Amino acid sequence: MQLSIIVPTYNEAPNVTELVRRIAAAMTGVDAEIVFVDDSTDATADVVHEVAASAPLPVRLIHRDVATGGLGGAVVEGMRAAQNDLCLVMDGDLQHPPEDIPILLRRFAAGDVDLVAASRYLHDGSAQGLADRTRVLVSRASTMITKAMFPIRLRDVSDPMTGFFLLDRRAVDYAGLKPRGFKILLEILARKSLRVAEVPFRFADRFAGESKASFRQGVNFLVQLTGLRFGKMSLFAIIGGLGAIANLAIMWALIELGMHYIPAAIIGAEVTIIGNFILQERFVFQDMKGEASGIWSRFAKSVGFNNGEALVRIPVIALLVNTWHLSSIIAAAITLVLAFIVRFMFHSLVVYAP
Ligand code: GDD
Ligand code: MN
Repeated sequence: MQLSIIVPTYNEAPNVTELVRRIAAAMTGVDAEIVFVDDSTDATADVVHEVAASAPLPVRLIHRDVATGGLGGAVVEGMRAAQNDLCLVMDGDLQHPPEDIPILLRRFAAGDVDLVAASRYLHDGSAQGLADRTRVLVSRASTMITKAMFPIRLRDVSDPMTGFFLLDRRAVDYAGLKPRGFKILLEILARKSLRVAEVPFRFADRFAGESKASFRQGVNFLVQLTGLRFGKMSLFAIIGGLGAIANLAIMWALIELGMHYIPAAIIGAEVTIIGNFILQERFVFQDMKGEASGIWSRFAKSVGFNNGEALVRIPVIALLVNTWHLSSIIAAAITLVLAFIVRFMFHSLVVYAP
């Protein structure tokens, strides 16, 4: 079996020697190379060169002067430069135990998957190495939010933010990736549907040095998350906007033809609701409908929701006007914005749920 082990490093000089020693010891019977992708300002590069000279397996260094994409960018660069299609990604600080690599390899060899992720949150796994309670909470909460935002893609993934995984790089669509900091696995899984398996592992304490996680990485993560989701949401908004215009045009035409405004408004609304459904099937949720319920069930849920929403909006406007003394236009605008968000959530989480 031929394997490329990709290790992103940022100032990990005191960890490199021990990491290479433990990887080499764990790689009996595997033809492996180690590729360090380094953005360090300390002596990491020197230590890698030193270790490479005497290591029992090939050790390569890619030193980047411009750290494009941070950790995630380094991982993608390592996958591009790897000798083998089978790539394992792990941190350089020994929080990912090299002794677990054979477990990932065995799961991959069992076949039927493109990627094996080592999870801190699967039954026997542990996130113990997340130094303090705040990080444990942040990690748990961001995992929950992320899973809620990608209910289908991440259905079988308990730890989409893990940095320890094995994949066949041919399954990844490099061109579409926009790596930004730490969450490279999420980027890979959210962009393309892959067959994923998980194995539990214990996130250990750092061997030496300090974590590079920071408030800035947190901001990076939120930008990445909205970027990944925004594509769908903005298409959904465009279709909704076009629908509103069509709604008014139909209403106007029917009134011109002599119809009373109430039936004209109802017909305009219904035609728009159905038109929106057809467009969103084709352009927004096309990648999700395969795993969702049948078309008539989706149709009933979507049309039912939109009609219910239109009915509920009127009393909500009245409520806002009467209790908060808002102008009716402002109240209507607030309900439209809220309705858009709720409608988007309802469609991604219910209508197109697997
Ligand atoms: N090349 C490169 N460039 N490497 C980086 C950079 C960078 O800008 N920033 C961090 N690294 C390297 C570190 O040197 C280390 O080898 C690895 O990426 C992980 O960084 P840590 O600083 O040890 O991160 P952590 O332990 O706090 O976070 C780990 O757990 C997170 C989940 O809680 C990582 O595995 C994250 O990927 C993971 O999301
Ligand atoms: Mn770490």
